[in-house]
Amino acid sequence: MKYLKDFSELSNLLPSGSHASMTPIFTGDEIEMIPDFRIEHVSKEWKQAQEEYIKYHEFYKSAGTTNHFKHEIFSVKEIYQHEFHLKGKILDVGGAQGKLRHFLKGDELNNYVCLDPFPEALEGLGNTPGLFSSYKNLNTPMQFVAAYAEHLPFKDNIFDTIHMRSVLDHFADAKAALLESYRVLKPTGYVLIGLNIKHGVWLQNKPKLSLFARLRRKIYNILFDQGKPPAIRYLTQAEDHVKDWSREELITLVQSCGFKVIKEHRQKPPFGHCLYLLIQK
Ligand SMILES: C[S@@+](CC[C@H](N)C(=O)[O-])C[C@H]1O[C@@H](n2cnc3c(N)ncnc32)[C@H](O)[C@@H]1O
Repeated sequence: MKYLKDFSELSNLLPSGSHASMTPIFTGDEIEMIPDFRIEHVSKEWKQAQEEYIKYHEFYKSAGTTNHFKHEIFSVKEIYQHEFHLKGKILDVGGAQGKLRHFLKGDELNNYVCLDPFPEALEGLGNTPGLFSSYKNLNTPMQFVAAYAEHLPFKDNIFDTIHMRSVLDHFADAKAALLESYRVLKPTGYVLIGLNIKHGVWLQNKPKLSLFARLRRKIYNILFDQGKPPAIRYLTQAEDHVKDWSREELITLVQSCGFKVIKEHRQKPPFGHCLYLLIQK
């Protein structure tokens, strides 16, 4: 069974003459080819944070259960079924396995494009226990592109909706990513940002991790190797964010990129630290 669409379907979204190498990924039943526009990423902070994220991903891939996935879906139902309705041609920046598709149907599902610099998130997709029974549409073939938010490989003004959930804190350069979104967004389009804004602390520009942070990372790595349960791992979790944003910093950032804030919404408790912003050109 194939989980990815044919790359040639993407051609009307790409500038003429653009070139991608093709990266093979074993999605479950077969090896599928992913168009790869990644350029060498130079930020050391990004590489370090992304390595921590990959460890976290690997753990959840093995420890995820139907209950865990159902809970995950339930927690964001209010967002996609009541508060925001995503329409038209959708680009999911940092979309990983494309879980957003659970809330899409019809043209929105057919035109959905997922972009992420970590195509390995699709490895074993078809074999992850509980994933397909919880997330409908995850086994519908999707368009996936390996690339960075800071360098979108698309033409100008072509997407109606850009979705960025739990990703601005992972980007090496959030401002460059928002400016790229601005470029590929239609003048009538929207960007939906979902972000955990609990801490609001700068992590970038810290020359060195504190002794506590280094100790925490060490414990985390030992527990990771031993496959300890999520609760213990959560408490000792190493930092997989490049920067945590406060609400004020986030609003200043989107405005500095030329966006207007159209709607602001906090997720219901216990996820009140998750802020959703709908922004427009
Ligand atoms: C916490 S996950 C969120 C996944 C998905 N958006 C969701 O809400 O389920 C963060 C994702 O951001 C991706 N990411 C990290 N740096 C990125 C970048 N520079 N450009 C695009 N995606 C990036 C990671 O590979 C990862 O898949």
